[in-house]
Amino acid sequence: MKSEIKNICCIGAGYVGGPTMAVIAYKCNDIVVNVVDSNKSRIDSWNNDDLKELPIYEPGLDKIISKTRNKNLFFSTNIEKNISNADLIFISVNTPTKTNGLGAGKASDLKWVELCTRKVAKFSLGHTIVVEKSTLPVRTAEVIKEILYKAQGESANTKNPKTFDVLSNPEFLAEGTAINDLLEPDRVLIGGEDQESTKTLSKIYENWIPKEKILLTNLWSSELAKLIANAFLAQRISSINSVSALCEKTGANINQVSKAIGLDKRIGDRFLKSGPGFGGSCFQKDILNLVYLSEYFGLPEVSKYWEEVIKINNWQRKRIYRLIVERLFGTISQKKIVILGFAFKANTNDTRESAAISICKDLIEEGAELVIHDPKVSPLQIEIELGMKPFSEMKNDNIDYPKNYLGNWRFSENLNIFDNAHAVLVLTEWDDYKNIEWDYVVKKMIKPAWVFDARSIVNVDLVKKSGLNMWSLGDGNSKDEISGF
Ligand code: NAD
Ligand code: UGA
Repeated sequence: MKSEIKNICCIGAGYVGGPTMAVIAYKCNDIVVNVVDSNKSRIDSWNNDDLKELPIYEPGLDKIISKTRNKNLFFSTNIEKNISNADLIFISVNTPTKTNGLGAGKASDLKWVELCTRKVAKFSLGHTIVVEKSTLPVRTAEVIKEILYKAQGESANTKNPKTFDVLSNPEFLAEGTAINDLLEPDRVLIGGEDQESTKTLSKIYENWIPKEKILLTNLWSSELAKLIANAFLAQRISSINSVSALCEKTGANINQVSKAIGLDKRIGDRFLKSGPGFGGSCFQKDILNLVYLSEYFGLPEVSKYWEEVIKINNWQRKRIYRLIVERLFGTISQKKIVILGFAFKANTNDTRESAAISICKDLIEEGAELVIHDPKVSPLQIEIELGMKPFSEMKNDNIDYPKNYLGNWRFSENLNIFDNAHAVLVLTEWDDYKNIEWDYVVKKMIKPAWVFDARSIVNVDLVKKSGLNMWSLGDGNSKDEISGF
């Protein structure tokens, strides 16, 4: 058994693979880290000399890449060669919800994990530690082991036969704070059966993480703990979002309620910020997976319990869209609405499952004309998520688009977008939106004009003072208060 790792290969150069491997390379100078991906354009972006062109935006990532890339960190599409060279392989590919077949809409699609495993089985040489970095249904390691163990011993060189150990090492980073989360994690979780391999992986992390923060468990606890951590976090958001609606009905204020309960150490103050519903690529996918697994293991009550977290999340998005229509006199047809923020949270360019997608689609469906701003999301990305071309482009290229491709929206790179708007809707908590000069904005808008703040980041008093009508999520005091106009 090998106890010292010299060469790591990570399959999957995404939001997890890229930053995680960059930090490992940064903290372990004597290890060569190869990040491989089948997506060539993604790899080209990782290799771009201009660090602004990295495929993901993550504060602090560019600095770490500049210190490690082409020294001991390499990005490549040569998957086979890098598998052969590796002592340890992280599988960090996507595991989205299945869209068809058995378990469609709930179970995770493990197609890409299986494909990688088969490649590892085929191209690895000697002893290889295979680490699940992707978030996976509990007991996936069983499948990975079965595929790998079938290939064990296969080698022309009998002195160096193939052998494998499989570990689970889920990732807990959050986008927008990934670098800090990787440099100073609350814990590192390693699940495995073979003590030697577990120690070997632990040693890598011990280069910068105190040993007491490295938690060793069995494989199944590790796989399940990752799903449950996400489920608990998402559950808190659905809980606080459900309370936001109650605050609006009763005159309470959600930020004050969050603060009051969060000061209780047993509850804690994190993840109590009400918003338009959680987005991101994982919370919904992982809870759906939990719902599926609970059903599969014959636990329908457990399954229904977790399903409610998703239901409240969808309800919150619909609630916000409906109240906008109601406040704008029941019709938003041909009314300009400024959308501030499209990313699923601030400090990322990721839009996967962003609440903005469903809210914007509903507003467009209802006839509104949207002008969308986001400091990091590209117009192309918004077009892909909405499944509609922007209005301005449609006018220019004279193509007869199918009806469902006609999107009444356009993108703006700047914030000079308030002219003739009926409403402003804040959907992402970017700092850019915290200090807007409402005294100036009000002069541009059509009265009565509204500010809808689904992140409760805007100063309610300043907005109201400017003469705008204000709805701030979970603020019972902004209920039905129509100012002067
Ligand atoms: P991603 O979609 O950004 O990246 C996955 C990459 O894997 C893609 O670039 C894809 O081209 C590549 N890939 C897929 N199959 C491949 C194959 N057979 N060979 C080579 N490359 C292949 O996904 P992500 O956000 O990095 O998430 C990866 C995993 O990590 C998921 O299981 C996710 O649940 C989990 N996770 C994500 C986060 C997050 O913040 N995004 C955090 C923790 C855990
Ligand atoms: C989340 C977890 O926080 C990570 O630990 C986990 O590794 C990751 O999922 C994953 O497995 O993918 P992430 O989705 O990047 O990370 O971002 P979060 O900060 O958790 O935010 C998720 C969503 O919840 C965002 O839409 C955010 O706006 C929302 N949120 C978060 C709230 O509405 N209120 C809060 O108090 C916190």
